[in-house]
Amino acid sequence: MKKLTLIIAALALLVSGCCNKDASTSSASNGTNENTKEATTMNTTMQDLLTRRSVRSYTDEVPPREVIEEICKAGTYAPTGMNRQAPIIIAVTNREVRDRLSKLNAAVFGPDNDMDPFYGAPVVLVVLADTTAAMTWKEDGSLVMGNLLNAAHAKGLGSCWIHRAKEVFATDEGKAILAGLGIDTEKYVGIGNCILGYVNGDYPEAKPRKENYVYWIE
Ligand SMILES: Cc1cc2nc3c(=O)[nH]c(=O)nc-3n(C[C@H](O)[C@H](O)[C@H](O)COP(=O)(O)O)c2cc1C
Repeated sequence: MKKLTLIIAALALLVSGCCNKDASTSSASNGTNENTKEATTMNTTMQDLLTRRSVRSYTDEVPPREVIEEICKAGTYAPTGMNRQAPIIIAVTNREVRDRLSKLNAAVFGPDNDMDPFYGAPVVLVVLADTTAAMTWKEDGSLVMGNLLNAAHAKGLGSCWIHRAKEVFATDEGKAILAGLGIDTEKYVGIGNCILGYVNGDYPEAKPRKENYVYWIE
């Protein structure tokens, strides 16, 4: 009986270690006992941080809402200065609004620009921050962006930081979108757009890290 339990535990550990790229289940939800679970999660976290890349080609398929919710949740757990939680996230899965945001973003480069700065991604998580909530609003918002990008990767989705949220939400049309959600347009400034979706084609390789990235004082 003891032997059988051991075999089952070993099998469960194997499964939990090799199935983290799943867009519907949490990478930390498997495991047999608390210690094993923690060790597995630590390894997976490091792996995810090192292998996340900016994805610039997506399929049209919208990921399940529960997965997007989990990614947003990871964003809300980013650290914030004095825990003021200055940032907010607008999760856009509506195609029409997504396309309007894409057009507004492209227009920052100049009029009559018909490129899609969102690279076909069907979902956009817009991060803005309340400039009156904390001195650290920009840093807070950037950390939320980082959590979103890494969580998306952990959930098996592609993602990329797309800039110019500041300019987009300073326009009348951008402000109207915010006002429609009851967001104070005087207080909130755009930080970034985290585009999300299923990767179309090859997954990008990491560029080499520069020399002297890290200095040590020992
Ligand atoms: C603040 C910031 C703004 C960025 N803006 C854009 C953007 O507008 N469009 C884009 O394609 N990538 C953008 N990126 C993604 C970077 O180009 C990308 O992170 C970088 O090339 C390194 O690649 P990696 O994310 O795959 O490691 C941005 C990244 C950051 C941090």
